[in-house]
Amino acid sequence: MTNETDNAPLEKLRDKIFLIGFMGVGKTYWGKIWAKQLNLDFFDLDEMIETEQGRSIASIFENEGEAYFRNLETAALQNFGEKKNFLVACGGGAACFNDNIRWMNKNGTSVYLSASPPFILSRVLKEKIKRPLIGKLNDTELLVYIEQKLTEREPFYKQAKHLLTADHLDTYSLSKL
Ligand code: S3P
Repeated sequence: MTNETDNAPLEKLRDKIFLIGFMGVGKTYWGKIWAKQLNLDFFDLDEMIETEQGRSIASIFENEGEAYFRNLETAALQNFGEKKNFLVACGGGAACFNDNIRWMNKNGTSVYLSASPPFILSRVLKEKIKRPLIGKLNDTELLVYIEQKLTEREPFYKQAKHLLTADHLDTYSLSKL
């Protein structure tokens, strides 16, 4: 899971954590717990974009399209170049566009929260409305979509420096890495 070539030394970057992974895996839920436990400031990248833009992610997708959102996301991410002492929960696609995973690995520690498609399905079913990429799919289509997207995105997610599996987590999972 490690890619040493363009990574700054790990120990120095422990206070700059990028939590990545598919939607619904629990990045925000666990991110808040781990940030508190490690005494880091917690941020949610999607929330930052919504606050800055004064509208929801769904509205940005609907009105401006995905490519526009991805550029906002990259710009929001790069705000963390100057920050320290943070854990940021990134949107599900953040690691997979604009070479962002490489940027994260140069500027901090990336952690991939991985989960199986059925686990993800059970988590996103309740919150479809907030997620523009899946809002219009029925349950069967949704499982197929998750399987396909996960396969497409894993080459990016797997460039993370650390891996945690979403169904075996506790308060100390991150500090034990
Ligand atoms: C997206 C995931 C969402 C949000 C946007 C796009 C994706 O974040 O950034 O809807 O491409 O997977 P969550 O992973 O927090 O749901």
